[in-house]
Amino acid sequence: MKKKIVISTGAGISAESGMSTYRDAGGLWDNYPVMEVASDEGFERNPALIHQFYSNLRTKLAQTIQPNDAHRGLVELEKDFDVHVITQNVDDLHERAGSTQVLHLHGELMKVRSMRRPDRIYTLPCDQLSDKGLVTTVDTRDPYGDPVRPHIVFFGEAVPNMEPAARLASQADIFVIIGTSLVVYPAAALLQYVPHGVPIYYIDPRPAKVPSWVHVIARKATEGVPELINLLRQQQ
Ligand code: OAD
Repeated sequence: MKKKIVISTGAGISAESGMSTYRDAGGLWDNYPVMEVASDEGFERNPALIHQFYSNLRTKLAQTIQPNDAHRGLVELEKDFDVHVITQNVDDLHERAGSTQVLHLHGELMKVRSMRRPDRIYTLPCDQLSDKGLVTTVDTRDPYGDPVRPHIVFFGEAVPNMEPAARLASQADIFVIIGTSLVVYPAAALLQYVPHGVPIYYIDPRPAKVPSWVHVIARKATEGVPELINLLRQQQ
């Protein structure tokens, strides 16, 4: 049976594709007030701004951003391992690169959902919506006449996929962290679910403080992922 590798990714893995990170200098939260564009209160106060913000990001993602060699490297690992990606990212670059098992903790930029029936989720562009392109507004309606909202977990909201993510972390034979500042909970707590003795690797050019048993690869994702693949091959 293949060993299970669980890989937790953050904004850093998509940085070299041209997606902004959040907390680096010049990152998204430097340029936009986070509580206005990514909180439940912000959405209540100014839903039009939130639709505009995510519509802009979505359009950029769909029209100008491609997966990079780090995303593709994780796909390559699937030949030898049972690979599960748990991502905090809202982009779809893991899927576009070809990863087959991806769990999104913070939602998905290419999706919106019904405000009345959250189980009704639509991937954009979508013929069923009143707006058929990549842009949604407060006036966008689904086929049932209900308004939609970005399928994003805002600050202040629950993280429904944390439970399956924690379960995956607890089943890992190898655990890998790539490109996250490890400050946003509950995602940052995933490490705590990894059983003792399981090797943990962390790829980030400016790594956060982590326990001493974590093997830190202080490189960019596109350099660190090939290094990780070599290390894992040597150990097989
Ligand atoms: P951050 O912006 O907090 O952290 C980005 C991390 O990526 C930092 O540790 C950087 O050092 C690292 N980094 C930068 N360039 C890199 C590269 N080329 N290769 C590898 N790493 C690189 O982003 P996250 O930790 O992902 O939530 O942020 C977590 C959450 O905060 C996001 O999911 C988002 C945000 O608020 C929501 O929007 C709900």
